[in-house]
Amino acid sequence: MPSRAIELGSGDGQTKDGRRRAFIGVDDILAEVTDRPMPTLWIPSHNRRSSLAHLASVIGIRLGSLVALLRRNNHKSQVCRVYRSYMARDQFTPTFGVSPPLLVGRDDLIAEFTASLADDRGSSTRATIYTGSRGIGKTVMLNEVERVARAHGWLVISETAYAGFVDRLTNITLPGLLTSHGYSNTTASTQSFGDQLKLVSDHLRSLHSGLLITLDELNVAQFDELREFGAALYQAFSDNGAVAFVGAGLPRSVNLILADPALSSLQLADLHVLSPINLNDAKHALRVPIEGSDREIEPLALDDAVQATGGYPFRIQLLGHLISHEHPDERVITRDDVASGVLEVRERIGSWQLESELTELPENDRALLVAMATDHGPSKTSAIASRLTIGQSSVDKWLAHLIEGGVIHQTRHGEVDFVQPLLRECLRVHPVSPSLEPNAS
Ligand SMILES: Nc1ncnc2c1ncn2[C@@H]1O[C@H](COP(=O)(O)OP(=O)(O)O)[C@@H](O)[C@H]1O
Ligand SMILES: [Mg+2]
Repeated sequence: MPSRAIELGSGDGQTKDGRRRAFIGVDDILAEVTDRPMPTLWIPSHNRRSSLAHLASVIGIRLGSLVALLRRNNHKSQVCRVYRSYMARDQFTPTFGVSPPLLVGRDDLIAEFTASLADDRGSSTRATIYTGSRGIGKTVMLNEVERVARAHGWLVISETAYAGFVDRLTNITLPGLLTSHGYSNTTASTQSFGDQLKLVSDHLRSLHSGLLITLDELNVAQFDELREFGAALYQAFSDNGAVAFVGAGLPRSVNLILADPALSSLQLADLHVLSPINLNDAKHALRVPIEGSDREIEPLALDDAVQATGGYPFRIQLLGHLISHEHPDERVITRDDVASGVLEVRERIGSWQLESELTELPENDRALLVAMATDHGPSKTSAIASRLTIGQSSVDKWLAHLIEGGVIHQTRHGEVDFVQPLLRECLRVHPVSPSLEPNAS
């Protein structure tokens, strides 16, 4: 392509020094990078300079840099590349706790929570716990119920069950809430968590509103605080207070918490074990953000990608993110892009997600999973016992633990398999602890 000097404007024209130059306009660039109008991003303007400034801000570079890009050879392809990589950048959310660009597969749960807000009977209808493996979408569900509650005029307290959370609620959050509703500072700060909760909920009830408290990362390290929290919540529910509670935690922690006799308020909760989303929904979760960034994915590539995610939300976001970045300057995402993305997902998941999930498990459980990972398919429980040189009954007890935790499932009598299809491969590539690695047989 012959080199051209570029000026802003459109068509060919005369510059100040009298030489003819090829002009390129913002609309030309847009015609190149998009096939269809993108009204939310682009408002065509007669003022080309302000349009260009807008384009620069959309791309995230300074106007001067954009103009410099346009003046160089191959200006269009460079702008297209920057534009596309910008568009690809923020679509997927391969980060824990961050709500996805398109939330799929949770409509029923959201509807159930929404209905509970309108239900005046209080009690168990207003307590929910989401559990499931890391990356299954628990925190995102908390974000969602918070959004729904706010939309219904409820107040929301969003907490994480780290050490000191009851203290934070008692001395900072609830007093702040009470003060902002006209209660004096002294009333607010001298009362216990339970008393303040009652004050707030009575007040909100009179306003036909309520208070939602969400508690993420429920864990047994905070048993004492959870007991105190649970007792206050139980009282609020018994008083038919305008309070809702939604908690989230990994299965092992949640099971232990629910087994604690002092936590009866939490035992009333509706327990939802979040499962992977169905593959049709997973397809939407991948395709829509890709198309939203003005790109396409080949149908077969999309099928490959969907299969590789197994419907696991975190994997959908990570794979979507990776395949969008394989060739950000190409419009169409291909099967090759997906194949490379899938390989990278395996590696990354092995090192972050699964390791963190596995480190939460007792050593015995991890040793058992590593022993299972030497098989190519379902493992015979007798083979696991002999690999670990321990008795069958101990192995069965440990296996029951992992089945309860949703890590493995029984395929038939005397045989178990991983729930997450990639876990086996990840364990092979990244054994959690070399000391636990059995001798491969
Ligand atoms: N329903 C969903 N649809 C699409 N992506 C989701 C969905 N739920 C969660 N995600 C994505 O999965 C990842 C993990 O979600 P998160 O709520 O942090 O999991 P958890 O709290 O269970 O570990 C995040 O990147 C999030 O955007
Ligand atoms: Mg989480």
